[in-house]
Amino acid sequence: MTQITRDDVRAYYDRNTRLFLRYGSSAEVQTIHRSLWPQGVTRIQQALSVSNDLVLEEARALQARLGRLRFVDLGCGVGATLFHVLSGLSAPAQAVGLTLSPVQAHIAAEARRGLGLSAHLLEADFHHVPLAGGFDLVYSIEAFIHAQQPEQYLREAARLLNPGGRLILLDDFLATTDPRADAWLDAYRTGWFVPHIQAVETVRATALDLGLVPLAERNLTPWLRLRALPDGLARFLLNLGKRLPQRHPIVPSMLGSMALQQCLFAGWIEYRWLVFEKQ
Ligand SMILES: C[S@@+](CC[C@H](N)C(=O)[O-])C[C@H]1O[C@@H](n2cnc3c(N)ncnc32)[C@H](O)[C@@H]1O
Repeated sequence: MTQITRDDVRAYYDRNTRLFLRYGSSAEVQTIHRSLWPQGVTRIQQALSVSNDLVLEEARALQARLGRLRFVDLGCGVGATLFHVLSGLSAPAQAVGLTLSPVQAHIAAEARRGLGLSAHLLEADFHHVPLAGGFDLVYSIEAFIHAQQPEQYLREAARLLNPGGRLILLDDFLATTDPRADAWLDAYRTGWFVPHIQAVETVRATALDLGLVPLAERNLTPWLRLRALPDGLARFLLNLGKRLPQRHPIVPSMLGSMALQQCLFAGWIEYRWLVFEKQ
């Protein structure tokens, strides 16, 4: 498979963000991430906000413990989680959102104006964050997976955090070495512009070397609503899709979604919530 560059990822989000917001999100929530359906969640707006609420819970606990909160969302999309957390805290906090996509940064700035919030928004690369340290919370929802250099992302997260501060990753992690997974993993990575997918153990080991100690971990895959197809049908669609004229990047994205469903269903990929504490 060809190398996926930062420019590829940027172009993918610039071209698809409005489509994702219209067809993959909800007008109220505006997240660009998966819905989660724990028991009791029945509406899509709630399901899209479950991960926002998990981050908010962590942010509230940190703010209560530290008496302050500076947080940064690395890969903030159009700011939905950032604004959710900032407006859900009981005391003022400093919030920064960073996205690679100028289209997303523009939409986020408009949303911020509409909400009257004071979050700082940046169009930048999370491998080289143009900010000094001093943060209490760094998090990424479905953004770490786009890192060309996952180790460099983790180095930056570690640099940004104060001792005692926390890093949260919610993302896909590799959970197999089975060669039967290879074609599906390839389709997922190509369609969703994923340069690398790492095993949790690899991420944990790199993080530990950087002084980020694993604190909590949950497999949230059971909360996803999976729609895997019978293997033969999925393979047929994948091959058909690869032969279609792919004039718009939404076509490979849809094939990537299908491949991801197959991988999650088979247990080859897990959707995990990881929390680390900076020493
Ligand atoms: C699937 S979207 C998730 C957006 C947001 N976290 C959410 O949950 O709505 C992935 C995000 O990662 C960002 N991203 C990918 N690579 C990046 C990079 N190198 N630097 C900064 N942001 C990046 C994209 O710009 C996009 O905002």
